[in-house]
Amino acid sequence: MNAAAALPAATDAALDVARVRDDFPILAREVYGKPLVYLDSAASAQKPRQVIDAESAVYEEEYANVHRGVHYLSQAATDRFEATRRRVRAFLNARSEDEIVFVRGGTEGVNLVARSWGRTALKEGDEILISTLEHHANIVPWHLLAEEKGLVVKGVPIHEDGQIDMDAYRDLLTERTKLVAITQMSNALGIVTPIEEIVRLAHDAGARTMVDGCQAVSHGAVDVRALDCDFYVFSGHKVYGPTGIGALYGKAELLESMPPWQGGGEMIARVSLERSTFKKPPHRFEAGTPAIAQAIALKAALDYVAGLGLDRIAEHEAMLLDYATERLSSLDGVTIYGTHPNKASILSFNLEGAHPHDVGTIVDRDGVAVRVGHHCAQPAMQRYGIPATVRASFALYNTLDEVDALVASLAKVREFFA
Ligand code: ALA
Repeated sequence: MNAAAALPAATDAALDVARVRDDFPILAREVYGKPLVYLDSAASAQKPRQVIDAESAVYEEEYANVHRGVHYLSQAATDRFEATRRRVRAFLNARSEDEIVFVRGGTEGVNLVARSWGRTALKEGDEILISTLEHHANIVPWHLLAEEKGLVVKGVPIHEDGQIDMDAYRDLLTERTKLVAITQMSNALGIVTPIEEIVRLAHDAGARTMVDGCQAVSHGAVDVRALDCDFYVFSGHKVYGPTGIGALYGKAELLESMPPWQGGGEMIARVSLERSTFKKPPHRFEAGTPAIAQAIALKAALDYVAGLGLDRIAEHEAMLLDYATERLSSLDGVTIYGTHPNKASILSFNLEGAHPHDVGTIVDRDGVAVRVGHHCAQPAMQRYGIPATVRASFALYNTLDEVDALVASLAKVREFFA
């Protein structure tokens, strides 16, 4: 991430990308007889051997259900599962591992906050502020809740360059605002928001804060204590971990005050035919058998990025983004969306006269995987009056040669539509 993100200064040598690529078996494959150029890590990142091995090792060595058994394997699996919770605590710099709730991913984390905290803490007429940059996962749960409870959801607009309009934000924040739910980094445009200031202003106004960290966590160190947000969510699969596992951070006193949102095994203290009582957080929010192997392998993913250094990863991706922006800008008829300097690893654009879906399909034949569409962020598309963009997203394993491959393929698209 660039300036606005709180990144530790890069100290070590640059990332050894050739060596890093060897960790990702899938990157060696071809598609349509061409080397794979994977520029869709914002949708889901590829997995290093360390994560793949960690997940299969669970099944080969120590698999059993967690928190349920007195037998050896159940206890071993539980120990490993809980080790990931401790790892996530450290990754986010939460105060306590009890503040880390395992969820399926960012979407489930937001829904948990809406269904549990939102349903009990908010009342008719209360306002929730989101922004034009939000992913649908941080919009729709609030709409559903608003419908049920008579709440008002308001959107903070963005400037033409894609950055949050902070003057508008200050104007929209009132004593009626009870929650500010805003992303740390836009998945559609790559914009890194001034999230520290957003949280601080929200708290000054007496509102709670929920930060969508799904894109941000893989591009820079996150410190929820320094950020002082009330809730923070991320998905494992975007940070080189498995699908089906993510985490919700919530301040201890808030989680303590929240009722369960799903009922079932493992979240109860006691059940009779008439009534149930519940465990303390985080287990209160983890009904049913969790994604055991995936949670355990998430630790391998977090260890992996920490081992490389999030500062070095961010520096490498910033270099790729700068180069890609410069090269793309040299093509005729390119419009880039999200030009504010605080952005990371995502380049969203359109080619004049070419529909994004055609662009995506044509470059795919050259082995280049990009995402096309509205990126589950329709309000951002509406802001620019477009239905969709082409999105190239860069990760720790991408190279300058891959940027060249994208640009060469796009040049062909230009000729095709000329
Ligand atoms: N949220 C994911 C993306 O941005 C799926 O592509």
